[in-house]
Amino acid sequence: MGKDVIVACDFSSREAVLSFLDKFSGEARKPYVKIGMELFYGAGPEIVREIKRRGHSIFLDLKLCDIPNTVKKSMAVLRDLDVDMTNLHAFGTIDMMKAALEGLTRPDGTRPLLIAVTQLTSTSEQRMKDELLIDRPLNEVVMHYAKNAKAAGLDGVVCSPLESPVVHEGCGAGFITVTPGVRFSDGAVGDQVRVTTPARARELGSDYIVVGRPITAAEDPVEAYRRCIGDFVG
Ligand code: C5P
Repeated sequence: MGKDVIVACDFSSREAVLSFLDKFSGEARKPYVKIGMELFYGAGPEIVREIKRRGHSIFLDLKLCDIPNTVKKSMAVLRDLDVDMTNLHAFGTIDMMKAALEGLTRPDGTRPLLIAVTQLTSTSEQRMKDELLIDRPLNEVVMHYAKNAKAAGLDGVVCSPLESPVVHEGCGAGFITVTPGVRFSDGAVGDQVRVTTPARARELGSDYIVVGRPITAAEDPVEAYRRCIGDFVG
């Protein structure tokens, strides 16, 4: 499977995201686009179809977490948007993840990749302990959630690049790690806690890196994207 940089297009309107993507119109490589809650809620499902029509691969990052029946039915609606990857919270249990897979699978048996969020990369071990009352080490929690996702039949997990090695070790090299929390060594960290550079994410074996503000807020987003591709894909 090819490694790629997924650009988190965290904009709240159709106009903002399309004018951002227009900057890449001269690029040979069309960025893999992540559409998250902000854009989906702001611009509606049509924006997914429109970006897809422009030839981008799409990761629809809505992080579903609800009772299994609700998640199954919601995934059945999302499958018709023809995205390449979507996700949910592993926290919702194995039953919920199995139901999601059923909902996402088209009548011909095909489906987008389905990956699970383990722990948000903005969560530190201390917060997990103090606020969520989870006393185990962060790596152990991530690994346990990853194994649950694998048992449910999912394709991989969203995790920090720092956790890619342990996830691949425990769930197999083919189990995909999609890793946000990526920053250039000379850039701002913002609200992310567990961060690494694109080059380090590559060394750690991440399959995809998700990069938002280091590209979207850069003075020259195309140059920042190329830098990420160069450092991560080679
Ligand atoms: O701007 P930044 O590079 O921090 O963007 C990271 C993106 O990855 C955001 O869209 C965020 O919602 C998403 N994400 C994350 N941590 C997760 C899952 C998704 O940061 N565990």
